Amino acid sequence: MATILVIGSGLGGLLAAVRAADAGHRVVLVTKSVLPESNTRYAQGGIAAALFRDDSVDSHVLDTLRAGAGLCDPAAVRVLCAEGPARVRDLIRFGVDFDRDESGVARGLEAAHSRSRVVHAGGDATGAAVEAALVATVRRRAAIEVHEHTMLVDLILDRDNVVGARVLGPNGVQLSLTADAVILATGGAGALYTHTTNPVVATGDGVAAAYRAGASVADVEFYQFHPTALAVPGTPLVSEAVRGEGAVLRDQLGQRFMLAEHPDAELAPRDVVARAIARQMERQNGAPVLLDATALGRDLLETRFPTITAACRAAGLDWAVDPIPVAPAAHYWMGGVETDTWARTSLPGLFAVGEVARTGAHGANRLASNSLLEAAVFADRAVRALGQPWPIRTHTTPTQIFDATQPADLYRPMVETAQLPADLKTLINRTQLQRLLWDCAGVHRSGTGLRGAAAILGDWSSPPATSTSVAALEDRNLLDLARLLVAAALAREESRGAHFRADFSETRVELAWSRSQSLELVPAKEAIAC
Ligand code: SIN
Repeated sequence: MATILVIGSGLGGLLAAVRAADAGHRVVLVTKSVLPESNTRYAQGGIAAALFRDDSVDSHVLDTLRAGAGLCDPAAVRVLCAEGPARVRDLIRFGVDFDRDESGVARGLEAAHSRSRVVHAGGDATGAAVEAALVATVRRRAAIEVHEHTMLVDLILDRDNVVGARVLGPNGVQLSLTADAVILATGGAGALYTHTTNPVVATGDGVAAAYRAGASVADVEFYQFHPTALAVPGTPLVSEAVRGEGAVLRDQLGQRFMLAEHPDAELAPRDVVARAIARQMERQNGAPVLLDATALGRDLLETRFPTITAACRAAGLDWAVDPIPVAPAAHYWMGGVETDTWARTSLPGLFAVGEVARTGAHGANRLASNSLLEAAVFADRAVRALGQPWPIRTHTTPTQIFDATQPADLYRPMVETAQLPADLKTLINRTQLQRLLWDCAGVHRSGTGLRGAAAILGDWSSPPATSTSVAALEDRNLLDLARLLVAAALAREESRGAHFRADFSETRVELAWSRSQSLELVPAKEAIAC
């Protein structure tokens, strides 16, 4: 029996914990907040899987590859789509009650899917239903020891092997937890941006800790912006499924502007819609665009989308009567800790599942409702791979590692920047960092803006790793990740998927590869500032 440390309690972490316990392991599950709090809980649209007779794994694979804009790892995509249906059935066994209609399990259509294949629960409360069912399942497993309010600080290495983690416990004391394997499931980093659909816990702790430990991270320039968050404080998500049901986007004058942008109009790929909305907002001096769902009728809106209906009501809006204001918001990080198709990272003993991982299944732009699926498929695989020999190197796609002979010096990871002596640096300010990334590394980017952001980030300092404040340790992670993201965005001199640069607005075929960033390759002392 091995001891498995699972860090994070979204779908990936909970499922990995249950699977590992059922495989006879002792599991220690730590989570920064309470067990049910995670990005999973806020997922609305659902889970995409080829479950229906008129669908096929091949069709799901094709849609996923197409959305990924040339950067998906085809092997990871095939695993995702082929094993997806079985993992959805597992969730049903664990108690997720997917919505039904007269034909059986109900399904919805979302942007860039060629078929209606997204299953949902509680209308638009799929994530909450999944989270609740898995939390209940975890609580029934005696072999799982749960530690809430326990934050990952850093990974513990023995030579190159990950053998545990340093965590900050609820009593404000840091301690070391050792394990035979660590499964990272800490989710994304929406807190890098001013506007995000993510909960406040999404501060990228796992990506930052893995990177500092020397794990390869990849594709970190690709942050997905959801086109339609309600433009009110709190930025609640307005699911793409609403457009799938027929809602349309209008400018301030009531005109449908997406018709001129893409043949699929409102159901164009997510990055296309987000950019079109951002452009339209610029034309409107920053005013949000309008999502008009009034034609769907009150009954459908209230039964199919109860969460969004409640969010509208809380903001004093009645979306059955009036179009609602929406704007893009940071939603999902395609990049992360690089894994192979068994969720193994470049560091033996360290697995990564869910949004913290870069499996290669999403490429440059994730297909809607593939995220919960990815977490389920690769959490299951991570547990199946426990105890198996570790491969030497885990790059899953043709990957270009930074090469010092290339002119792209700016791509070097910036862990310690050398612009100012340490005592002249300013301590990171989270609000300013979020604004900087929103303005310079958001939906629209340019070399000038990214260079400016890199210089500012280079002049900030991190709180110490020994801090006993959750907020300070999160800030340390956000600063490391902001530097990584900006450096990667600068190095990618093209536009592809979610990464759009005004100064390189075309996709360049010769750049259709993922970049890995690894501390092993560029020692921190050599790192430079942009
Ligand atoms: C949504 O409901 O629009 C979000 C689904 C997703 O991010 O996959």
